[in-house]
Amino acid sequence: MDKLRILGGQALAGEIQIAGAKNAALPILCAALLTDQPVQLSNLPDLQDVRTILKILMQMGLKVTFPKPDDRSVVILDASDIHTPEASYELVKTMRASILVLGPLLARFGRAKVSLPGGCAIGARPVDQHIKGLKAMGAAISIEHGYIQASFGEGHKALQGAKIVTDMITVTGTENLLMAAVLAQGKTVLENAAREPEVTDLAELLVKMGAKISGIGTDKLVIEGVAKLHGAQHAVIADRIETGTFMCAAAIMGETGADLLLKNARPDTLDAVIEKLREAGLSIKTGDNWIHVQIKQRPKAVSFRTSEYPAFPTDMQAQFMAMNAIAQGSSRVTETIFENRFMHVQELNRLGAQIAIEGNTAMTEGVNHLSGAIVMATDLRASASLVIAGLAAQGETIVDRIYHLDRGYDRMERKLAAVGANISRIQ
Ligand code: EPU
Repeated sequence: MDKLRILGGQALAGEIQIAGAKNAALPILCAALLTDQPVQLSNLPDLQDVRTILKILMQMGLKVTFPKPDDRSVVILDASDIHTPEASYELVKTMRASILVLGPLLARFGRAKVSLPGGCAIGARPVDQHIKGLKAMGAAISIEHGYIQASFGEGHKALQGAKIVTDMITVTGTENLLMAAVLAQGKTVLENAAREPEVTDLAELLVKMGAKISGIGTDKLVIEGVAKLHGAQHAVIADRIETGTFMCAAAIMGETGADLLLKNARPDTLDAVIEKLREAGLSIKTGDNWIHVQIKQRPKAVSFRTSEYPAFPTDMQAQFMAMNAIAQGSSRVTETIFENRFMHVQELNRLGAQIAIEGNTAMTEGVNHLSGAIVMATDLRASASLVIAGLAAQGETIVDRIYHLDRGYDRMERKLAAVGANISRIQ
């Protein structure tokens, strides 16, 4: 199993190219199921989760072509010959986002069989809202032998437009229902919809494919179903969480110093993160598609609550906690989206952090320095926080189980090494 070895204390300086967003790429790849014409995507990140969803789609019969040799950021998807609208437990269990095939399969083929995702390290993460919404659109859904079996309701040749208000804001739930609604008969209104930029990116691709959607970027999406969608070309939006992760990596360097230019970024999707990092003392300049960050002094501790977009993202909570660990002062971080997303705390404490958990709040007392140790990654963003902590820790940090990191970061250690970090992958 691969590990990362980090020798902390090296200043960071240089340019980093931000990749396309994992959480936009996954639904967008599934949206190719909605048409029998080719969909061409660019700015696709090269990640384990992307490979997993491509495998699921290929098992169904979708053809995947990378037209440029040695470049996996451009892909052509052809769903003209889907023979098995099914996603098996073997693959779904490795990635919960596989549930995103359910809406498009059902909408286009009138039937789908998708394994129920199993447990998850960061919380229970049920998919009841996805199912509730599809049922409201007339789908007949049963759960048998661990699989969701879905079909058009009796006497129907398509899903039926409906008014759907989800009990909570759900990102993949909104995406699944949006992909189902674009081919439904009549009008669907999705209220309490997620406003995450990744949902908007998916909606923009769907519009290019001929879908009729209004209210994009708001919490009320109105969809007029169409009979057929066509092919399209689309560039995946920049990954705001990867961007924020490198900004935290800069901030934690404190007096050691960091000066990073993040290119191909989308600062307009990072308002809450940028505001908190400015409060921490990071100097931040932005243009349309770049962010320049600099630090020369110890960061200040910042407190926040995670919440749905445009508020502070849960996917940045762990990385900020690493920074808070060595920041000046104390901080309170409250996690409101997932019930068990503090697994990095014990590992950060192994590096010398002083973090105590009370319910869904973590209280951190900033220490003067962290000291390198062997730590274990438990989920994707937790892994990123350990890497960030390792960059600032004195001596050697080994981050074990980095397959979690590889699921969602496109060559993170190579990008960090290129700007001066002493970091390498070991077997
Ligand atoms: N929820 C339900 N029932 C549902 C759906 C959600 O109870 O049917 C609950 C969840 O258990 C959770 C809350 O609602 O407590 C919000 O979950 P949501 O459905 O929004 O999460 P998700 O769609 O499964 C996506 C991202 C996550 C990110 C969350 C929150 C993708 C592929 N994943 O998950 O990304 O943390 O939204 O923003 O888009 C990551 O990239 O590291 C990651 C975990």
